[in-house]
Amino acid sequence: MKSLIFSHEASPDFFKTISKQLDGEIGDLVSHVFPDGESYIRINSECTDREAIIISNFHEPNSKFLPLIFLCETLKEMDIKSIMLVCPYLPYMRQDIQFRSGEGVTSRFFAKLMSQFIDSLITIDPHLHRYKSLDQIYNLKSKVLHANPYVASWVKTNIKRPIVIGPDSESEQWAASAAEIIGCPYIILKKVRKGDKEVLISPPNAREHNNLTPVLIDDIISTGRTMIATAEALKLEGFQAAVCIGVHAVFSGDAYSEMKKAYISKIITCNTVPHETNKIDLTRLLTEGIKLNSAK
Ligand code: R5P
Repeated sequence: MKSLIFSHEASPDFFKTISKQLDGEIGDLVSHVFPDGESYIRINSECTDREAIIISNFHEPNSKFLPLIFLCETLKEMDIKSIMLVCPYLPYMRQDIQFRSGEGVTSRFFAKLMSQFIDSLITIDPHLHRYKSLDQIYNLKSKVLHANPYVASWVKTNIKRPIVIGPDSESEQWAASAAEIIGCPYIILKKVRKGDKEVLISPPNAREHNNLTPVLIDDIISTGRTMIATAEALKLEGFQAAVCIGVHAVFSGDAYSEMKKAYISKIITCNTVPHETNKIDLTRLLTEGIKLNSAK
């Protein structure tokens, strides 16, 4: 039987594009929020021995967590064979260590919880920094897809004479491989984060490249301060306003408006989190990943 496809907070267009390319059936899901804020869920599809594919937009995860768990548990009680979560942006990956004593390593807690409810996970460029793979914290089958070929293709088509800039050592994994595909130079800078909105970037020492267009590539744009500080550091060395590309358009609080005021010419993201800056479409990457990893 065909897989059942469900949306978990995915944007309607994103869900439609992906589900159209899969040989599945849209699950008949009724959900409702009671006046007291609690959730109601009912699944009207036959589930026995079928695979469920849940397309999720898990950005701002706290309020989305329980509805997902209720969906998974209902599916299991209806004898679903397996549950695949397609989660283009995987939240709770950045607290991957105790920076100070007493802190909760929430990436590990979140992974442990999720592993109880789903069988497999497909995601795009999760923030793997101190963890080398999701297997270190997730106890399920996972597949990590990479946005880089799509990011590089956008740069090739849209930017003349680029130089890729990685704002910090963590970004090297994205910046270096994008630069290789584009066929342009890259440099990795040093960042010190003093607080949520306070970021210091060391002088790039790259004046010899200031005739090229700086293209900043990072996985997540959250407060935007990493991008803003990097663009300002480049300005001091005579570079033109930067093009900023983030895989995940998290844009917390005033991030987007502050970035628009900064020394930045373009703000571009992939559509892993819905936002008006989504110019790089990753639905094909996800669809191919789902087909290759489907349990059917
Ligand atoms: C850092 O670990 C990440 O790769 C990003 O550089 C970071 O999340 C960006 O955060 P923000 O936009 O808040 O500076």
